[in-house]
Amino acid sequence: MNDIGTQQAHQPVSRDTGEPDAPDLVACVRAATTAPSLHNSQPWRFRITPFEVDVYADPRRRLDVLDPTGRELLISVGAAVFTLRLAIRGAGYLSDLKLFPDATEPDLVARVSVRRPMAPTPAAEALIAAIPHRHTNRWPFARSVVPADAVERLADAARREGAVLTVANPVSRNAILGLSQEADRALRAKGRYRAELARWTSPHAGRRDGVPVTAIGPWDALEMLPIRDFGLLQPQLDRPAAQFEPYPTIMVLSTDGDTRRHWVNAGQALQRVLLTATWLNLATTPISQPVEVPGIRRLLSDGGAGKWAQIVLRVGYGRPATGTPRRPLAEVLVPDGSEQP
Ligand SMILES: Cc1cc2nc3c(=O)[nH]c(=O)nc-3n(C[C@H](O)[C@H](O)[C@H](O)COP(=O)(O)O)c2cc1C
Repeated sequence: MNDIGTQQAHQPVSRDTGEPDAPDLVACVRAATTAPSLHNSQPWRFRITPFEVDVYADPRRRLDVLDPTGRELLISVGAAVFTLRLAIRGAGYLSDLKLFPDATEPDLVARVSVRRPMAPTPAAEALIAAIPHRHTNRWPFARSVVPADAVERLADAARREGAVLTVANPVSRNAILGLSQEADRALRAKGRYRAELARWTSPHAGRRDGVPVTAIGPWDALEMLPIRDFGLLQPQLDRPAAQFEPYPTIMVLSTDGDTRRHWVNAGQALQRVLLTATWLNLATTPISQPVEVPGIRRLLSDGGAGKWAQIVLRVGYGRPATGTPRRPLAEVLVPDGSEQP
């Protein structure tokens, strides 16, 4: 059992103690939907039964140009799965996790089953408290260094979910930033990339997905940092120019394989790292352009040594970022007993 209480034992929830014997799984799913996702695509669906939540990938929300294999879709779903497990723990229950529990249903990514009641640990409570405060931050960060013990806590968070988080030294940082800029330029040159970006950034009334103007952040006056420019196709926006930190702290999250299961675990690790960072008052920006261009992703990986780069992160101290919208629960809940979504 790890510290958020996902266990392998198959002990049923007590149904005869007179105590409330099931957490509010609707509330837990609502927490799960706050997870980060590529372009805020929210590519997930959930089916709740009294003691289980099935988490499905929603392939209709995959980004065909950026993510043809669905790798980032499954990272996003993995982040939601981790948040769901954490929310169940916060409600005072242990849970079981099975990835891809039914070979006949490839979109059924995870089954999270509620087990017996157990009060959350202080560490789990700290992560739970961070859930509503975690937001992607595309603003300049302070020039101050991220302390070594904070870096170690983030690396430990990744390890606990089966991934590896490596902090770049000055030489590799410059190399990663250079590769990220190269990837960003290659992507921006593609009309299909820009068309896809336009679909996920065009504001329209009542929109509950995509990246809103309020989350785009200022324009990097020196064009040093390869933060994805979600304002690329909105020249009418009056964005301030800002100077970003010259020596950002850059980390790479990797897994020891590159299967669908590894992608889900990368997402779980990503969310655990992001929530740990939030708890430590650290701001974070995922940077995924370098892992979206296969040739550049290979340079960040070492397949022979079993190391596959899944995402790059920028970490530092920044002004608080604001949240982004989420679709209403009715859109992501699959009625129990209905056909597969
Ligand atoms: C797999 C994945 C890739 C992402 N890539 C980027 C990226 O390249 N640049 C960026 O600014 N944000 C990136 N994000 C962050 C999302 O844009 C963000 O999670 C989403 O817009 C929701 O906003 P929130 O994180 O503030 O809740 C990524 C998130 C995930 C899960």
